[in-house]
Amino acid sequence: MGNESIDWDKLGFDYIKTDLRYLAYWRDGAWQPGVLTEDNVLHISEGSTALHYGQQCFEGLKAYRDKDGSINLFRPDQNAQRMQRSCRRVMMPEVPTELFIEACQQVAKANERFIPPYGTGGTLYLRPYVIGVGDNIGVRAAPEFIFAVFAVPVGPYFKGGLKPHNFLISGYDRAAPNGTGAAKVGGNYAASMMPGAEAKKHGFADCIYLDPQTHTKLEEVGSANFFGITKDGKQFVTPKSSSVLPGITRLSLLELAADRLGLEVVEGDVLIDQLDRFAEAGACGTAAVITPIGGIEYKGKLHVFYSETEVGPVTQRLYKELTGIQTGEVEAPQGWIVKVV
Ligand code: PLP
Ligand code: COI
Repeated sequence: MGNESIDWDKLGFDYIKTDLRYLAYWRDGAWQPGVLTEDNVLHISEGSTALHYGQQCFEGLKAYRDKDGSINLFRPDQNAQRMQRSCRRVMMPEVPTELFIEACQQVAKANERFIPPYGTGGTLYLRPYVIGVGDNIGVRAAPEFIFAVFAVPVGPYFKGGLKPHNFLISGYDRAAPNGTGAAKVGGNYAASMMPGAEAKKHGFADCIYLDPQTHTKLEEVGSANFFGITKDGKQFVTPKSSSVLPGITRLSLLELAADRLGLEVVEGDVLIDQLDRFAEAGACGTAAVITPIGGIEYKGKLHVFYSETEVGPVTQRLYKELTGIQTGEVEAPQGWIVKVV
């Protein structure tokens, strides 16, 4: 398939089989040399711990077409480190940072014809993962593991790109107070499917979770982190909690808000009954990029932030700065862009 068959401007967030994916096995106490393969189907033991006990984790990062034609990865070292933390949490061998970045570079390069052209807003989403495999039946770490990376060309995760969406506060929790919320493990996402589907059924883009201990503090959007801009325009606020996934977009916005927008950044509680502190709010993540939050429905009432149709000025500046860095239009802080050559 040539890329003539893809309408870059119409890409959503759907699986498209690309040419090659990276695959490596952990056996005999070490990662074995990986290969690029055309085969997108895994052949694994029926006893694999990934299938029964959720022993797995994943990552999400993107390859961007730079305005000069080169290919950029955005802070892949941060994804590598987060995957190492996830692996430790569910007793899997860590993938070294160099191996992680090398595999991502190889997959982006090998699927270059699937990288959406500069200016279309599309990107090549990379999905690294580690799974426990091999013959096993008891609840214990697997005898073998797979580390793989595949790629899918994507457009906006929430329809329309930089456009406000409404979200619904869920009564469910995606993770427990001392559970696995801070690790990017599949179980958290399995737990989020039903609440997410319920929110969508009622016309919301996704659900938002409160803290699992007290249900009084806003913690996380279904697949992204929350941020708010206070009404005085001075503070960028984002929740911090052991049950929230520490997002790399969130981390980057904390730095950009402080260094480039001159805002005071606060990692702290966002009480659900004090949403009127904020003039603007947004969801941020690799797939979500920055999605403005129009309103949040809680206990039958919709709280609107800036507007349900317009994007607030601070959200717009953050979006321009972040996406500008990713596509080479804006100077990147040291080490944020890793080239694919
Ligand atoms: N929170 C959840 C539950 C996510 O799935 C994601 C996406 O990866 C994020 C937050 C944002 O993380 P990042 O910015 O690293 O993509
Ligand atoms: C990402 O932004 O990479 C995510 O993990 C969202 C994904 C679960 C669709």
